[in-house]
Amino acid sequence: MKILVVGSSNVDINVLTHKIPKIGETLMANSMRYSYGGKGANQALTCAKLEADVTFLGCVGDDDHGKAIQENFRSVGINCDRMAISKDEPTGTALITIDETGQNTIVVVPGANFDCDIEYLKANDDAFKTADYILLQMEIPLDTIEYAISRAHHFGKKVILNPAPALPDLNPEIYKKIDYFTPNETELDIMSKSLGIFDSEDDKINALLNAGIKNIIITLGEKGAYFVNRKTRKLIDAIEVNAIDTVGAGDCFNGAFVSALAQGKNEVEAIKFANQAASIAVTREGAQEAIPSLSEIKEKFNI
Ligand code: ATP
Ligand code: RIB
Repeated sequence: MKILVVGSSNVDINVLTHKIPKIGETLMANSMRYSYGGKGANQALTCAKLEADVTFLGCVGDDDHGKAIQENFRSVGINCDRMAISKDEPTGTALITIDETGQNTIVVVPGANFDCDIEYLKANDDAFKTADYILLQMEIPLDTIEYAISRAHHFGKKVILNPAPALPDLNPEIYKKIDYFTPNETELDIMSKSLGIFDSEDDKINALLNAGIKNIIITLGEKGAYFVNRKTRKLIDAIEVNAIDTVGAGDCFNGAFVSALAQGKNEVEAIKFANQAASIAVTREGAQEAIPSLSEIKEKFNI
């Protein structure tokens, strides 16, 4: 089974601080490091490390970061031959602040990611035809996301949307075309606003199911993930670990979830596997550097 990731890739500037600064506050950081990230890239890299067959569609700048990102993709086995290089915009950048408890804030400067437009997807239509699962996030233009979902649905492919970062203005008609929707609790709240104002989490979930989403998997950090569809409501516990850096935990979860589905696991099994993969990632620094290999997960969990 083939996975197509349509999404972002960024340079992450990670700043480690004693605490997250308040508005108007200036802080001295403990240290900083550069790494490669972007929700699309992190999820594609997870698929590759878990030995899935994965292709990436997205855009980087015509700069050293763009070249290094593509080299890194090739070295882990991601098919990135169709990636675009922006003539005008630099590779996307994420400014990440991580405090001593592992909490973070992230600001993304999209740069070249916003050159991932509908024309580019049209030129790569056969990537949609040949894939089985299409995995998307929300760091590329909204109309591109809607087009990609419609195209994948048109070809009868399974669509997974990780609505991160969340935007309340996704066209609600698109929900009918989504097989798996994977928000965290904040993203669930923001995305449900496209359908109305609801008091409880259950009401938000029901509204999204009524709009046509087939399955919702809400990631709950150290509590695990909540799997919901019209027949099932089930909490699947996280693995207890000492988390030091959760940047990219959701990406590792999504990549592992889709890789497991592509390898024939059912949803509950795939969520358990995704919890296992992400539990290793949160014990290490960084987004991509923290992603475990398949053999590491198998060894740790005796599977
Ligand atoms: P991020 O934006 O930081 O990448 P997220 O908010 O999208 O993450 P979370 O719900 O925080 O996603 O985490 C995704 C998954 O990672 C969880 O469902 C769980 O499997 C795992 N995870 C996250 N935090 C922890 C933790 N402290 N202990 C164990 N597992 C964790
Ligand atoms: O989910 C983590 C990612 O969000 C980081 O790698 C950063 O690039 C932002 O896209």
